[in-house]
Amino acid sequence: MDIFRIEGPVQLSGAVAVNGSKNATLPIMAAAILAAGKSTLKSVPRLSDIFLFARLLRQLGCKVGKGQNGDLCIDSTTIDNSVGEYEIVRRMRASICILGPLLARCGRAEVSMPGGCAIGDRPVDIHLRGLRELGAQIHLKKGYIIAETPNGLKGKEIFLGGPFGSTVLGTANVLMAATLAKGKTVIESAACEPEIADLANCLNTMGAKISGIGSPRLIIDGVKQLRPAVYQVIPDRIEAGTFMIAAAITKGRLQLNNCRLEDMMAVVNALRNIGVTVESADNGCVVARNGPIKPADITTQPYPGFPTDLQAQFMALLVLAEGNSVIIEKVFPDRFMHVAELNRMAANLRKEGPAVIVAGVKNLIAAPVMASDLRASAALVLAGLAAQGTTVVSRVYHIDRGYERIEERLNPVGAKINRESP
Ligand code: EPZ
Repeated sequence: MDIFRIEGPVQLSGAVAVNGSKNATLPIMAAAILAAGKSTLKSVPRLSDIFLFARLLRQLGCKVGKGQNGDLCIDSTTIDNSVGEYEIVRRMRASICILGPLLARCGRAEVSMPGGCAIGDRPVDIHLRGLRELGAQIHLKKGYIIAETPNGLKGKEIFLGGPFGSTVLGTANVLMAATLAKGKTVIESAACEPEIADLANCLNTMGAKISGIGSPRLIIDGVKQLRPAVYQVIPDRIEAGTFMIAAAITKGRLQLNNCRLEDMMAVVNALRNIGVTVESADNGCVVARNGPIKPADITTQPYPGFPTDLQAQFMALLVLAEGNSVIIEKVFPDRFMHVAELNRMAANLRKEGPAVIVAGVKNLIAAPVMASDLRASAALVLAGLAAQGTTVVSRVYHIDRGYERIEERLNPVGAKINRESP
């Protein structure tokens, strides 16, 4: 298992390109199941999660490979297996979003229950409720979800809200199934994340009839069939936010290319409020910090609120604020695996239920730390950039799930991250 050896403190300066969005790509890869034929996806990041999802699609009978200039080609002409194996699903929660497309295409799907992960329980009750509303018969057997539509899928008014608000992949599953259902479907309390809007836009290029895109009320007029996609995915707003925080935590200045500020106004607003400048530039933005970091109160919420996927990274930044901050995690209340690791680096963090009190400290001190989940790992890398000394981050494979060779992107702008394979 690779480790990162990170020298700090450094000051980042220069330009970094933001990749295509992992969380837009994964459901769009699943959407390729809906239309027999060859789909081509552009700007797809080269990440272990994407490779794993490709393996899952191959198990279903798809041919998946690289096209010219790095495009991802998925030929779903033949789907001769409708089982999503536990061996893959347990490692990547996003696998659950083959359920809706398989039901719509084949009338049957068997997908392992995803199980929990480092950020907490990962229930799928809302996914199943929505698909049942569309006419699917669903039961559990030996840890697998067995779903069938003996009479096909039928459009309906569906409320998809849950105790934590909307569900991103739950919306993706029901949306994809509804595109081929008979009649009209209305999804109330749909997720508004840009990645869901991207999926809906992609489905419309495939011949689907979806309106209300970007709003909590999606209206889908079912069609008989869809055609394969040719689609370019949106930039990754979470990767962009991570790089913005890298500039801020090192008191540096980064130009981010290929990022859409309109997708990340909660983060931009939070950064500006603590003394970080964020200026839009053509095809991206420039992020810099000169003065002190002011404390903040942050609460994560479904989009357009502050994204839970940037909570850990922002916490690493607030560790160095002049004063006390409070971070409340409203989406995944247990998503605090990074707290103990940051405290090993001389942060002063205290967990109080779904909140963490962040008492600002002057410096972070380098230490050996362990990555636990994708975004917590990114937070440890950011802390290592600012900490005094050499920070060693182990289990770097967590980072590779969501950031393509992050060291090769940050070292050219001043980071000193060495990947070692002991
Ligand atoms: C997506 O996960 C993202 N993953 C996550 O990003 C992200 O943290 C999350 O949305 C929230 O924005 C992908 O897009 C691949 P949810 P998802 O269903 O869809 C509860 C990353 O780091 N819930 O929106 O699985 C759930 O427990 C990953 O890139 C139910 O109760 O998240 C949570 O508290 C991590 N029942 C809340 O809703 C359900 O049936 C939001 O979860 C489904 C969800």
